[in-house]
Amino acid sequence: MAKIGPSLMCADMGNLEDSVKRLDKGKVDFYHFDVMDGTFVPNFTMGPDMIKTLRSHSTTLFDVHLMIKEPERYIELFADAGADMISVHAEATIHLQRTLQSIRNRGLKAGVALNPSTPLSVLDYVWDTVDYVVLMTVNPGFAGQKFIPLTFEKIAQLKETIVQKELDIEIQVDGNISYDTIPKVLEKGADMLVCGTSSLFKKDKSLEKALEELHSFLDSLTGKNKVNS
Ligand code: DX5
Ligand code: ZN
Repeated sequence: MAKIGPSLMCADMGNLEDSVKRLDKGKVDFYHFDVMDGTFVPNFTMGPDMIKTLRSHSTTLFDVHLMIKEPERYIELFADAGADMISVHAEATIHLQRTLQSIRNRGLKAGVALNPSTPLSVLDYVWDTVDYVVLMTVNPGFAGQKFIPLTFEKIAQLKETIVQKELDIEIQVDGNISYDTIPKVLEKGADMLVCGTSSLFKKDKSLEKALEELHSFLDSLTGKNKVNS
């Protein structure tokens, strides 16, 4: 079954604790924290203190998506803040294998995030150090962008390699994951859905209603899901 991960940068930043408690009631699989440094991406969002504060209000998995240059400098900081999973961009670190190993050394799940234009071949020599791959389906840095269609094929190619090599690696998709794009990303092999303004945080709908509808939509696709999982 596809996993739902609310992207908290799209939530009401003034009421994150309340949002997390309401989302936990409605059942979600992980919380997606977008961390930006204004350099790797031209935007700023949240830091370790916000993650630490929310950690005491939820036992759900915390997934930290580091969109920062030289992420290896801050693995300890985000691990101490309460992350369960940390993804780093292959384009942002010189020593990818070492950085992934340092995440695993903290007992966390290690993820590699790839910008839409970055080829899958950057993974060729880290397959044994990766637990999940984040395929950006928009250019990182902002919510509310349009899905980049060529990334559908990238999901399928990654899935094919994972199946071929019998790897235990999950595919996370991030960016404009909507009712229009969800059926196809699942069909192509995605496992984890980062849900932002496109499917969960809606101006015209309560969080409870939006999550309920998302669950029934995914249930309605289960037939397809079964095929892929
Ligand atoms: C973008 C972030 C995404 C974003 C998703 O860089 O990584 O998590 O919040 O939001 P939507 O669903 O609006 O694309
Ligand atoms: Zn993200």
